[in-house]
Amino acid sequence: MSKGLDRLPSSPPSAQGEEAWTVLRMMEWSGAYLEDKGVVRGRLDAEHLLADVLGLGRLDLYLQFDRPLVAAELDRYRPLLRRRAKREPLQYILGRAAFRELDLEVDGRVLIPRPETEILLDEALEWAGVHAGAEARGLDLGTGSGAIALSLVLEGPFDSVVATDCSQAALDVARRNAEAAGLSEKLDFRLGSFFEPVRETEVFDLVVSNPPYVAEGDAPSLEPEVREWEPGDALFAGPDGLVALRAIVAGAGPRLRRGGLLALEVGLGQAGPVMAMLEDTGEYVDVRVRRDLTGRERMVLSQRTMTN
Ligand SMILES: C[S@@+](CC[C@H](N)C(=O)[O-])C[C@H]1O[C@@H](n2cnc3c(N)ncnc32)[C@H](O)[C@@H]1O
Repeated sequence: MSKGLDRLPSSPPSAQGEEAWTVLRMMEWSGAYLEDKGVVRGRLDAEHLLADVLGLGRLDLYLQFDRPLVAAELDRYRPLLRRRAKREPLQYILGRAAFRELDLEVDGRVLIPRPETEILLDEALEWAGVHAGAEARGLDLGTGSGAIALSLVLEGPFDSVVATDCSQAALDVARRNAEAAGLSEKLDFRLGSFFEPVRETEVFDLVVSNPPYVAEGDAPSLEPEVREWEPGDALFAGPDGLVALRAIVAGAGPRLRRGGLLALEVGLGQAGPVMAMLEDTGEYVDVRVRRDLTGRERMVLSQRTMTN
């Protein structure tokens, strides 16, 4: 806590009071306030919220430390701070999340896209750059905000991407994101469970998914931001967390062209079981694992055999 913060009010401040709420004083107070509520990087989140209210970039706050906040600004800021204190994710409060080259609209209908999924995209795009032609077709299972599907079209050689989700609400968000990014023409959003909305005659160069993979019993160990705010359908996958991954491995083979890539994000400790599932099908070669930025095995990649 910064010096003197113990003199300040214990709830989000109002304009009343003898000392002016400058940008710096507010950043310090509200950072400590959020951290007291269990928010890990409270100061950083307070800065994002304050910058949003003031219509500034976060770092611009550092050039305006002495700027006094007027009553209207305090009135806009206070409810945002209260929401974050209740552990609502910062991205839902701001209504957007950065993902690779995209600025995506997000709210409680969709999972907030994660950095490890950006690595899954690195792998898929690198593979596609070498092995897929200029008219590559992709299939994104459980598209959520559309983060993966949109990135394939924006950054890769993909002429079309089919994106499925069992949540109509999620598809509404994904469609809006596609429109905002000017990518709608190449995207085909379909409602239904994983492969259900895909025709039997359709084959793809790439099948990719970041499916739900949390074991139901692990819910208590999740941070409140995740457990209480992100959609359960996006998180939980049965007693062992592998229900969705099993369904995807079981259905992917016929949907991939020979030599096509299956790229899956998996939870901690799931890479081994998923590799075994893939090997058991006899449909894949070159089954391999990739790690996230902290060195944990989080991606399983494999190629459909050329022969069966
Ligand atoms: C972990 S989220 C991933 C969202 C997005 N692809 C991303 O990486 O940020 C999983 C998504 O799968 C969807 N989902 C869950 N079960 C599904 C099913 N059986 N069929 C299709 N989508 C499903 C959820 O609605 C959610 O949008």
